[in-house]
Amino acid sequence: MTQIATRTVPFARPWITDADRAAVQRVLEGHILTHGPECKAFESDFAAFMGGGHAVTVSSCMAALHLACLHFGFGPGDEVIVPAETHVATVHAVEWVGATPIFVDPEPATGNLTADAIRAAITPKTKGIILVHFGGIPCDMPRIMEAAGPRGIKVIEDCALAVGGRWGGRHVGLFGDAGCFSFYPVKHITTAEGGMFVSRHADVAAAVAILRAFGVDRSHGERAKPGMYDVPSLGLNYRMSEMQAALGRTQLSRIADNLGRRRANFARLAAACGRPGLVDVLDATDPACANSHYCVAAVLRGPLAPRRDDIARRLNEAGVGTSVYYPQPVPRMAFYREKYGYDPGRHPTAEAISDTSIALPVGPHLSSEDLAYVAATFPRVVDEVLA
Ligand SMILES: Cc1ncc(COP(=O)(O)O)c(C=O)c1O
Repeated sequence: MTQIATRTVPFARPWITDADRAAVQRVLEGHILTHGPECKAFESDFAAFMGGGHAVTVSSCMAALHLACLHFGFGPGDEVIVPAETHVATVHAVEWVGATPIFVDPEPATGNLTADAIRAAITPKTKGIILVHFGGIPCDMPRIMEAAGPRGIKVIEDCALAVGGRWGGRHVGLFGDAGCFSFYPVKHITTAEGGMFVSRHADVAAAVAILRAFGVDRSHGERAKPGMYDVPSLGLNYRMSEMQAALGRTQLSRIADNLGRRRANFARLAAACGRPGLVDVLDATDPACANSHYCVAAVLRGPLAPRRDDIARRLNEAGVGTSVYYPQPVPRMAFYREKYGYDPGRHPTAEAISDTSIALPVGPHLSSEDLAYVAATFPRVVDEVLA
């Protein structure tokens, strides 16, 4: 049965206020448009929010991941463990440096890689592990760091969806050797395009800051003579603009409110949508873990599993915006399938999440009426499909 939409609730919408607009405007009224004091201030604001570490503004999370793979020297002949279920950016970063991605299936309850699965995938060729805090649910970092062991395997945390995610109080991105954040419009905070590279190691952050800006040895402010610098290493231009950094700072100033609303929205929707044996909502399973509540990822089971597209269509017709994280396991995407081959069933949990899950909105754009509407519409649609 098709329902006439009585309300339109987008899956996500950037939360832009007058303070955000004014901050961007102020930059435009000045003379420094990129790579200046706003970027520096955003870096220190972000490190302060995390409660430690060193932050480097970059042009996207993909750029941060690429910089990490370059900095740690991954290359041909090296294996890098990655989740089978993630955004292609996680794996493209490995491909761009010529290393080989080793796909590992996540666990069903959280969508995250476990320490045991990682341990089983480590070989003498393993040079790195890129973890994804799936849908903002932190991986079990203490156990994963133990699994990475003393052999010098570098651990990179893809925190694209995990601003505010913590384990035992420590912010994600500060367990491994590097963390990579995204500020794409649908993320917790946005700079339109943009990201942050973080590391608990000052030397790693300093080297990546140079790599991100052509390999130039000093910033504008540090040059004794205008225009004079040297280039001791190869580099890229993955810098963030001052307008983006100013926007990021005002966005970050509202992060406590933002995360609080997400937490409350998630709790309400998880209670309304979860059904034993039929709908599993991915969430943290360990009390030490603080989910950052990017979305509600509802995995359909049993008779609902083959009806995912039908259920999503009915929700969309009723005005409820949905998404899928992610539309295919990465090894099943054409580029990877053609390069490495793919046997259906090889990554059953990744396949189940891609093929049978629906992501529902929890962002601060939801009014209490929107929330009540989604909380009523999802179970109603499920009942219709089961009838
Ligand atoms: C896990 C993950 N990594 C990386 C990215 C890429 O982020 P960006 O668009 O900032 O490059 C995304 C985007 O959604 C993502 O979900």
